Amino acid sequence: MEIQLVQGDITQMQVDVIVNAANSGLLGGGGVDGAIHRAGGPVIMDECRKIRARQGGCPTGEAVITNAGNLKAHHVIHTVGPVWQGGRSGESEKLRACYVNSLKLADEHLAGSIAFPNISTGVYAYPKSEAARVAVDTVRNYHSRTIKKVIFVCFDAENYALYQHLL
Ligand code: APR
Repeated sequence: MEIQLVQGDITQMQVDVIVNAANSGLLGGGGVDGAIHRAGGPVIMDECRKIRARQGGCPTGEAVITNAGNLKAHHVIHTVGPVWQGGRSGESEKLRACYVNSLKLADEHLAGSIAFPNISTGVYAYPKSEAARVAVDTVRNYHSRTIKKVIFVCFDAENYALYQHLL
């Protein structure tokens, strides 16, 4: 898999799958979650509601897939990052699981390309440098049958610089 780095808005990416940093309720929020639902339109929320009705939301570290509405992508994978609680509550394992489970789901849908935001580094307050290390390490060690390209989309300059250093 080729790994690329971009600074910008993930909703503008031309990839098969965009990953959303959602919450367990799957009913939207601020940050990248709000931006994806605004840009993609109400059909994404309709599917999130159906998933909630079926399985009661999405636990931390897991991922679910919906269509992408008006976005250029084909699908949105909603994953729920851990809330930072000091680092001794399994945060890194849960963050790693977000990346692995999103990649697995993208594989199952035969995606060729996927874009990730910096999961948990906003409202959920995961330290950016540690989150970047987990993200890069997990993606580098994942072997996909179908994904050819992974793009890390950094919204802020601090994350962009951290990823640039790691990559
Ligand atoms: N494109 C790419 N990245 C973005 C965008 C965007 N349009 N908007 C924000 N970001 C970045 C932030 O800069 C941050 O680095 O996404 C990263 C994750 O921040 P949050 O969106 O706050 O996500 P997270 O920390 O995982 O918290 C999840 O926030 O909005 C709620 O519903 C969401 O409750 C959930 C919580």
